[in-house]
Amino acid sequence: NMAANHIRRFPLVEVQGVPLMSMIAEKWSLISAFNPDPSDLLISTYPKAGTTWTQEIIDLLLHNGDAEVCKRAPTVERIPFLEIQAPPPIPSGLELLTIMKPPRVIKTHLPIQLVPEGFWKNKCKVIYVARNAKDNLVSYYHFDRMNKTQPEPGTWDEYIQKFMKGNLGWGSWYDHVKGYWKEREKRNILYLFFEDMKENPRREVERIMRYLDLSVSEDVIEKIVQLTSFKVMKDNPMANYTFIPKVVFDHSVSAFMRKGEVGDWINHFTPAQSQMFDEDYVRQMADVDMPFRTSL
Ligand code: A3P
Repeated sequence: NMAANHIRRFPLVEVQGVPLMSMIAEKWSLISAFNPDPSDLLISTYPKAGTTWTQEIIDLLLHNGDAEVCKRAPTVERIPFLEIQAPPPIPSGLELLTIMKPPRVIKTHLPIQLVPEGFWKNKCKVIYVARNAKDNLVSYYHFDRMNKTQPEPGTWDEYIQKFMKGNLGWGSWYDHVKGYWKEREKRNILYLFFEDMKENPRREVERIMRYLDLSVSEDVIEKIVQLTSFKVMKDNPMANYTFIPKVVFDHSVSAFMRKGEVGDWINHFTPAQSQMFDEDYVRQMADVDMPFRTSL
């Protein structure tokens, strides 16, 4: 089994102070030197903020809502994950990018200061998706349980501490969401919120459409909203990550398409954990006024 030989919970190695999976850190100079085409589009998120959902919306927008075309391959092959290096069958982002011709849609979880300079020099469009801290943390916790290439999550209580300290793959959630937020106007970044997408997916799909200078019909917008609902994506083998072998993603521990809701944090945090988290949150987010919502 190809995959089994490569599976391990990769330790985190810091790159410019940001903890990344060792396989990414080892290839850092190559990743950092990647030079996109000006026509390439970057989708950036902190892990578990709604990346796959946004990728599906964008792929459908670019193919006028054609569901069959958007089932041509799993998400990871349609939209290269810039910094990912392994394990099979997840293709290396850089290798895929050498094969694919621009214009490409590219996924990254890199914080803004680590995004290869070429994206800014070439004025690529960038779509960022942010999700409220508590739901993002819950989602990442369950993902780290089922993704056998990520460090052990430890206990729930330990995980909250790691999240608050930024001691997880791709670093601090707080720095990540703030970094892109502060630059969004200067760098023409479309900054989206998971909660807005849940509240009114049609409005957010249209927002993405306008940012991409596309125009699709009302019917197609409606179709895209349906095709990218949680229920439909959960059953779409080209979007739900079930093609990844169980030794890598163990969906029996926790499904990749887990709940897809706003406010699930309430089922995880004790009142004491919630209060402690909120107090720290106020300190860590004091320098910005960001419209995060933890319920709808
Ligand atoms: P939960 O663990 O809270 O269910 P990413 O794609 O960035 O890894 O994010 C994964 C999270 O987005 C998971 O959250 C997943 O269920 C949710 N998600 C994926 N597709 C979705 C959709 N179409 N609608 C709502 N949530 C979705």
